[in-house]
Parts: sequence; structure tokens; C-alpha cells
Amino acid sequence: MKPSTIAIDGPAASGKSTIGHHLAQSLDYLYLDTGLLYRAVTWAALHRGIPIEDEAQISRLAQTLDIRVSNPTEDDGRQCTVYVERKDVTWDLRAPEVDHAVSPVSAYPVVRAALTQKMRAIAAEGDVVMVGRDIGTVVLPDADLKLYVVASAEERAHRRLLDNQEQGKEITYAEVLSIIKKRDRIDSNRATAPLRPADDAIIFDNTELSIEAMLQRVLHLVHRPIPRS
Ligand code: DC
Repeated sequence: MKPSTIAIDGPAASGKSTIGHHLAQSLDYLYLDTGLLYRAVTWAALHRGIPIEDEAQISRLAQTLDIRVSNPTEDDGRQCTVYVERKDVTWDLRAPEVDHAVSPVSAYPVVRAALTQKMRAIAAEGDVVMVGRDIGTVVLPDADLKLYVVASAEERAHRRLLDNQEQGKEITYAEVLSIIKKRDRIDSNRATAPLRPADDAIIFDNTELSIEAMLQRVLHLVHRPIPRS
């Protein structure tokens, strides 16, 4: 029997989204990158001029905002399409302003509670690969399979720099590394649902392993027969 709910967690730019997306395609499962939900709330706050420090207003926003995620609607490299109030904001969510502001927004407990509820409702349908920071620990503690993907901050900065260059964004390696380290610090030290592997997660370090090689290992793991007890 294949696992029906698969949780993949790990720090920024660790390759977890690439692996999660390929895995979902290979299994014909729904793919949900949960960081997009935090990014959608952050984008909407910036768009509406709400200060990022205003926890009360941002919390209300997270509870009321209409966010929908679907399979890709355009063939332009996206892994999901995200609508906020019915507007396609998929690429807006990757703007550097959102990168800067998303960690503080995702540290607000009411924001986390509202989005966690949304994620659980989606996972209740089954056959899902859900990628994030706290999926195995908080959102889906009973997931059938939990993976935790890591790579060194330097390796992750190199990969993120390449992504940025492909998208024509001007940013230096030093800037990317500094943003990644800052986000790691905030994500790992926040009081609510900090980034950490679940006790029963399988840890994959891909600092010295290509994403393709790691995907092969993960596929092998998912398709292996579960021993009868
Ligand atoms: O994976 P990403 O870079 O798109 O995530 C954006 C932010 O959202 C990041 O700062 C961590 C946060 N996040 C979270 O706290 N919990 C999740 N399940 C997913 C993302």
C-alpha cells in the first residue's frame, strides 16, 4: 500500500518543493506547497498597505482572505496556481518584498491557526503531498510518510541565486545567503510551530546529492512494499 498523506518539511531552498512536486506528479496526487498560503497573506497585507508589524490586522486578514490553490493553469514553470480574492497572484508571491516580510507574518499564531485549518481540510481528501515547515510536526502529525529535507545554507543560496538569475532578478550571492540565513533563524526560533524534523521523519541531506538523485531515493522509499507485521 502506498502512503496516502505525505508530509515534506525543510528550510528555504532545500529542494523540498521540487521533490514534492515530482513525487505528487509520479503518484498522481495533489501537490500543495503550503508556503504559498503564508505568502498569499503577506502579499495581500503589503498590497493593502497593512504594516507587517500590525499583528491584529494581519491576523484578521488571514481569517477572512479568500485564498484558492489549484493545479497549474498556465504552462510557465509554476507548480500551482494561487488566487487571492479570485485574482491570479502566483508570480507576485515570489517578489523580494514578500520574501522579506513572510517570515514575521508566518510567526503570528492566529495566522498559523487559520492556515493550518485550511491545510487540514485539503489533506482530509487524501492522496496529497504537502510541503512546508511544520507539516509533519503540527499540521499532519499522523501523515503516512514524513520526510525532512536539508542542505547547507551555502548550497541553498547557490540554488536560489540560479533561480533568481533565470527569472532575470538582480541579486548577489551574499544577499541571497543573508536572506536565507535570516529566514532560517526566524523559522527555527519562533514560538509557534518552529522548523524542526518530526521524531518519525526520515531525514534527507542533499548538500552533496543532486535533486534528481534524491528524488530517485524518495521514489524508491514510497514504492517499497510495507512489511506485514
Ligand atoms: O517555503 P516558502 O519559502 O515559500 O515559505 C514561506 C514562509 O512561510 C517561510 O518563512 C516559512 C513559512 N512557512 C511556515 O511557517 N509553515 C509552513 N508550513 C510553510 C511555510
